[in-house]
Amino acid sequence: MTEQDRLLTLKKIILDKLNFDLGQYKESYIERRVNTRINLTHTGNLHEYIKLLEKDQAELMNLMDSLTVNVTKFFRNIETFETLEKDIIPKIIKNKNNSSRDIIKVWSAGCSSGEELYTLTILFLEALEKSGKQYKLLVQGTDIDRKSLTKARIGRYRSENVKSIRKDLLEKYFENDGTYYHVKPHVKEHVKINHLDLSSDFDRLSITYELILCRNVVIYFNKDVKQALFMKFYNMLQKDGFLVLGKNESITGDALCHLENVNISERVYKKTLHGKITD
Ligand SMILES: C[S@@+](CC[C@H](N)C(=O)[O-])C[C@H]1O[C@@H](n2cnc3c(N)ncnc32)[C@H](O)[C@@H]1O
Repeated sequence: MTEQDRLLTLKKIILDKLNFDLGQYKESYIERRVNTRINLTHTGNLHEYIKLLEKDQAELMNLMDSLTVNVTKFFRNIETFETLEKDIIPKIIKNKNNSSRDIIKVWSAGCSSGEELYTLTILFLEALEKSGKQYKLLVQGTDIDRKSLTKARIGRYRSENVKSIRKDLLEKYFENDGTYYHVKPHVKEHVKINHLDLSSDFDRLSITYELILCRNVVIYFNKDVKQALFMKFYNMLQKDGFLVLGKNESITGDALCHLENVNISERVYKKTLHGKITD
């Protein structure tokens, strides 16, 4: 059996046992992650590692954790959030109809343990307060990793994790119990958190958003999955809606014709055409 066949066997085990399709990831990325697990488990090679995976549920979960890297933080890449705060969010609020029934809908795609999601919610609540507008706010968070989603739903963070939050915002939007900082209920009431695999067919999310953040997620996806996802994002954006990618990511493929790069360094794109594009 070649190493390529072994990798296929490993992918099949993950699909059968965890219903997780590794086809979305770049081969080089999978190999790097698997090699790290081979070293950490002292199995020595892929053949022995597969034998371990077949009988050890905990190692399956370790590999899954290693593949879906969950690193995140509040106000990660602060300049991106400054751009959102000063430029993008005010535009989104200004573009609304002025009816208090209007809902601003925002999506953190690949939200991990919630830091990005709550950062966004706080910035929108601040901007709405400043503008005096009564719009409703919905911030949707999705991720493939259920453990991270549970953390996001709980919304409880250690003091070292909230260091990047401005003191006034920390006091206003979090409750400190001496050990943890808890996101206040009035923030959580704007937030909805769901499991979603971005590489799957997720047309069931039929609402459209003013702003989608998908940062530090697609970097691991293969070209086809990435390009299909960008088109889905395009279709799920409202007229004049914005998409923000991670600092090292950019749009490729057909979506490039319909999403104009309005801030190159912060990877902010704006929807330029309004029709739904199906293929
Ligand atoms: C590095 S974190 C980024 C978190 C946050 N967006 C940020 O930039 O701070 C990447 C997240 O993408 C999620 N992820 C990876 N593959 C995914 C997929 N196919 N569908 C949905 N989420 C995925 C991981 O579980 C992880 O929580």
